[in-house]
Amino acid sequence: MKITHRPRRLRRTESLRNSLAETRCSLSQLVYPLFIQEENKDEEIRSMPGVTRWSEKQLFKVLENCLEKGIYSVAFFPKIPENQKDSTAKESLNPEGFIPRVIRESKKRFPELILYSDVALDPYSSDGHDGIVKNGEIVNDETVKLLTKMALLHAEAGVDFVAPSDMMDGRIGAIRSTLDENGFTQTGILSYAAKYASSFYGPFRDALDSAPRNGDKKTYQMDIRNVREAIREVELDLQEGADLVMVKPAGAYLDVIHQVKEISSVPVAAYQVSGEYSMIQIAAKHGLFSLEKAMEESILSIRRAGADLIFTYFALDLAKLWRE
Ligand code: PBG
Repeated sequence: MKITHRPRRLRRTESLRNSLAETRCSLSQLVYPLFIQEENKDEEIRSMPGVTRWSEKQLFKVLENCLEKGIYSVAFFPKIPENQKDSTAKESLNPEGFIPRVIRESKKRFPELILYSDVALDPYSSDGHDGIVKNGEIVNDETVKLLTKMALLHAEAGVDFVAPSDMMDGRIGAIRSTLDENGFTQTGILSYAAKYASSFYGPFRDALDSAPRNGDKKTYQMDIRNVREAIREVELDLQEGADLVMVKPAGAYLDVIHQVKEISSVPVAAYQVSGEYSMIQIAAKHGLFSLEKAMEESILSIRRAGADLIFTYFALDLAKLWRE
């Protein structure tokens, strides 16, 4: 045949394909979410094969391992005992509480770690909501006041980025000014800017026993059918001073990542959430495909869509894979 253009010429060998790949991902672009608990035992999470909720003691070994393997960024998610939860989520504001202590100790032992802390009330709330519930309503402004105090506490403990995942209106601006007024001008804010009311968070809520006791999160998390709304949320958070903006979940929202990337003046993060992780793990366990190949493909797709930073439970597995 007489064919002028033969795209296959560029796919001939693996080394050629590698040299021409448009998308790359390095370990420095991954953030490893870690479930932790005060109770002195390490527990496997039923709904997330291969993921453990660590005790404080074990956490420090995990962090050491992360650094050794090239994972420098981690995010903490605490499981709070039932008897410390109440309707005001008051344990979230305890300066001697579990998370401030773990942040302080982690930064002391591993100053080079980049730490992200979750700012939302759900693990601490007996209602399992990200905000305060009054007469069935998740009240915005009162919640924002608590979130700013919580963010300040984490900043005082030495966290690098506070990461509000609650989707209340106006919290980025409020947190920024509180941090600045208290001298924490170098503490960053990663905003969960476009966070959807997604069913893919199921295994996470199992891991932390943090599912809403009543109703769903649709009055604050975003409608899964919308993308212009995501742009609006991102624009507002940028105006309010977000240093990084996030789209969450990632895999089913690649179009959103792409569009946010086009308009964002700051780096864009994406969160490959618990359900995305478990789907791949469980399908691979059933022999449907190779775990390594599927996890790599899922991450490269998120990068290709435009994410600069990816939260993924596969971080350590990828570190192993990419070192080999
Ligand atoms: C809580 C929070 C959630 C996740 C991160 N922070 C759950 C939720 O909003 O219900 C989900 C992460 C995951 O599924 O991996 N504010």
